[in-house]
Amino acid sequence: HGTVESTADLVGKHIVITAGGTREPLDPVRFLGNRSSGKQGVALAEAALARGASVTLIAANLEVAAPASVELRLVGTALELEAAVTEAAAGADAVIMAAAVADYRPLLVQDDKIKKDDTGDTLLLELTRNPDILAGLAQAHRPGQVLIGFAAETETDPVRLVALGRAKMARKGCDFLVVNRVGWAEGFASDRNAITVLDHAGDIVCEASGTKLSVAGRILDLII
Ligand code: CTP
Ligand code: CA
Repeated sequence: HGTVESTADLVGKHIVITAGGTREPLDPVRFLGNRSSGKQGVALAEAALARGASVTLIAANLEVAAPASVELRLVGTALELEAAVTEAAAGADAVIMAAAVADYRPLLVQDDKIKKDDTGDTLLLELTRNPDILAGLAQAHRPGQVLIGFAAETETDPVRLVALGRAKMARKGCDFLVVNRVGWAEGFASDRNAITVLDHAGDIVCEASGTKLSVAGRILDLII
């Protein structure tokens, strides 16, 4: 943890933050998941609390502890996260979608453990698309509410990275999109992050790097 902003500029504001990564069950003992640790989402919650906001944290399989004073909603799958965030967003001043949401889930969830003797040397999984939760929130368009999405990309070229972010913004229609590079060694488990934030028009409004807590502060500044 670094220093947390001490200004109380979010007093009276209700901020909903999704964090972590969804897990999509295959059978009672297995899931498809991703490497999101939830650290950036939790850092956003800590920074928002320190600035006086009330925070609802919708947590999907966090690898780190949630701050004590958030209203905590635990979810597992993308569909559970969608239900929780849609409900919480109704009265929120800002919604930050930091969670890594599975794009697909297994079409069929087996009631019993899948046995390898029934499947042979290869196993083909049929997946179906999950709803795009962020795009759905943007479509609902609550006036006065700030909607922030994240874009995790493995692109290494900074120009192409921003181009990917702009294309993603056009698909999502949120107010701000936080573009960050992820890879085998960067992004997820790390305590640091480097971000480029685009506004609705695709213009760069913020570039920041540092601890996830300091980056969180820069993201919250956009809400102000
Ligand atoms: N997101 C979402 N619902 C999904 C997938 C993603 O709400 N089913 C949100 C994420 O929480 C994030 C943003 O959309 O805030 C971008 O997620 P990302 O995976 O980078 O973008 P996708 O649109 O899923 O595109 P792709 O994975 O193909 O790059
Ligand atoms: Ca995705």
